[in-house]
This record gives sequence, C-alpha cells and structure tokens, in this order.
Amino acid sequence: MLKKEEVVLKEESLGLFPDWESIFNRKAPIFLEIGIGNGEFIKWIAERHPENNYVGIEVAREFFKKAVNRITSSGLTNVRLIHCEGAKALCQLFKNGSLSGLYLNFPDPWAKKKQKRRRLVNKLFPWLLALKLLDSGFFLMVTDFKEYAEEVVEAFLNTKCFAPLWKEGPMRNRLEDYYHTKYARKWLACGLPLFFVGFKKVKTPENIPAEVFEYYPILKISKEDSMPHSIIQVEKPFVPSELVNELPEGIIFQKDQKVIKILEKFLSSKSVLLDSLISEGHLVQRFFVTISPHSNGLIVKIHDSDKPLPTEGVHTLIALLTKELLRIYSGKLLKTTCKKHIIKTFTTEEVNST
Ligand SMILES: C[S@@+](CC[C@H](N)C(=O)[O-])C[C@H]1O[C@@H](n2cnc3c(N)ncnc32)[C@H](O)[C@@H]1O
Repeated sequence: MLKKEEVVLKEESLGLFPDWESIFNRKAPIFLEIGIGNGEFIKWIAERHPENNYVGIEVAREFFKKAVNRITSSGLTNVRLIHCEGAKALCQLFKNGSLSGLYLNFPDPWAKKKQKRRRLVNKLFPWLLALKLLDSGFFLMVTDFKEYAEEVVEAFLNTKCFAPLWKEGPMRNRLEDYYHTKYARKWLACGLPLFFVGFKKVKTPENIPAEVFEYYPILKISKEDSMPHSIIQVEKPFVPSELVNELPEGIIFQKDQKVIKILEKFLSSKSVLLDSLISEGHLVQRFFVTISPHSNGLIVKIHDSDKPLPTEGVHTLIALLTKELLRIYSGKLLKTTCKKHIIKTFTTEEVNST
C-alpha cells in the first residue's frame, strides 16, 4: 500500500520528462486521465488493469483531495496523481511517443461563446496529443455536450494522424464496459444522451503548424535547456534602493502570444526582487527574479525557490533585464545562459551563451 506522499507527485519537483519507470518502480504502459474529479474513474480503470500505470491530473484542489483519499485508501500501487493543469502536464511530463492513452471524462465544455477558448481540447490539442501518444495510442473522451464532441472530432480528423477508434466512426452514444462517473450518472438519469469520442493514432505528425509550438511553448524546451541567468560587470556601485526605481514595471514585452509583466518590485538589503508573470499561449508562469551582487558585479537570475520551466518567455525576460542592467550600469556582459538567438535581439555584446 502506498502512502499519500507516494501517490501524490509534485509538478515542480518532477521537472521536464520525469523517469516514470523509476517513479512506478516498473516498466509498464502509461495511461493519463485529465480532470479526474473525485477519482472514481481512475480507481476503476486501475483496478481492472493492474498491468498498466495510470497518471491522474486535476486542477481543482477540492476534487484533487477527494481523489487522493480515494486512491490512497484503495491500496492501488499503479496510480499517481498530480495537482496541475492538463495541457501543461501533457507537455511537461511525457516524452514524445510515450503515452498509451488519454481519457477525458466530461471535460469542462465552456459552453458560452466567450469562454470557448478555455477548452482543453481545442483545434491545436490533437497535434499535441499526436506527438505524445505512442503509435496506436488512443484518445477517449465522453461528454454530454454534442457541439463540443463534434468540434473535437473535426479537430482530430484535421491532423490526419488519427483514425476512428470504432468501426462505426469516431463518435457514439454508448460504450459497453465503461465506468459511468458522477456526471454520466446525472445525465443518464435525466434521460439525456452521452457522446463518446474515440481515436487511435495512426501516424506521427509531420508539418506541425507553428501555432502549436506558440500555444504550447513547453514543446520547444529540451531537457538540456538551462535556466537563464546573466552576470554583468558594473561600472558603478550596486545600490538596490536606487536600482529598484530605475527598473521597469508593468508589461515590459508583448508579441504574438507572449506577454511579460513585472507585477511588483521588492527591495531587500542586498538585492532587488521582481515578481514576474509570463503568459505564453496556454501557459502562465509566475515567479521571482533576483538581481544581486556577484563577485564580478551583478547577477540576474530566477529566485532559487522558484522553478519555472525555461521557456522562451523566461529567457526573454532575463535577456530584457540584462539589457536594462547593461544600460543602467554602463556594464559589460561577462556571462549569460540566455539562448543565443534571444539575447542577440536585446544586446549586441559578444558573450558566451548557450
Ligand atoms: C465536469 S468535471 C468532470 C469530473 C470527472 N471526470 C467526472 O466525470 O466525474 C471536469 C473536471 O476537470 C477538471 N479540469 C478542468 N479543466 C482542467 C484542466 N485544464 N486540467 C486539469 N483538470 C481540469 C475540473 O476541475 C473538474 O474536476
């Protein structure tokens, strides 16, 4: 029997592409459920298939807690749960071609026109899933919302990477031997139909639209990518109380799907702290940046207690701050781990960078 701390995995400590074999202590096919709610379904499927490993994702804390209690008390050893947003989990936690299947039971339909863009499965999602699934891996979704089901079918067919899961096509109203969650029971009790959508991957995607990588920026990161920082030699003394006033606040960068904002600036005796928010496509990351003394001058880096993923947005923020510090201190860039193509757009200095 697993302890709660073993069932629950912390997204921040997992980093990019964790080693699932060592997490589960065995090699077995991995299936994902996004939006596990109270965990009924994942418990049911994991009990039926002890030969498989299951990962459950839930964004709402109250539901997550219920699911954790359910799985912990079940004694199951083939389930791990993560409190995280689903698309982020898919991008961050699974290597391409590593997932055997994805289940979505009643994903929030966001029925109002204005809210539609919040849907987990939009026209770009099938491309992401086509990357993450292994060959013949499947997608299985159930919803009560016909329009959503139809749009999902269209989006999957559009990639040309999927074939219907069933002989009669990718959509049906019944599925034998499938667990009915709280939502299914509710709709069925009202006499309303359910819509099952199923696809299997038949082709690895080629010519993925650039929009997919902009919307899911984690797809551009590799395990070797380091967290950006810069070391700057300065020509005048570093006085945090003066620097804090000179640094910008508010939106400091906005282009395409990327917005970088300094929410607030803080002062400590030795350093300046910047509460930073980066929105890139579907991903929003908030963390602190510190500017503090270094043996050779100044160092600008992500605060040690924060672990954002080193996306292009994070590199752009450090590159922008590097540029500001070079200007303010008439400084010289000694070292940077910002990506070359990014730092080059903000400073002309020749430096060692990745
Ligand atoms: C309508 S409920 C369905 C719950 C459960 N699957 C069931 O059938 O009983 C949708 C669930 O998905 C979760 N959810 C919605 N969007 C999510 C996302 N992007 N990532 C992870 N969970 C999400 C919600 O918090 C909620 O628990």
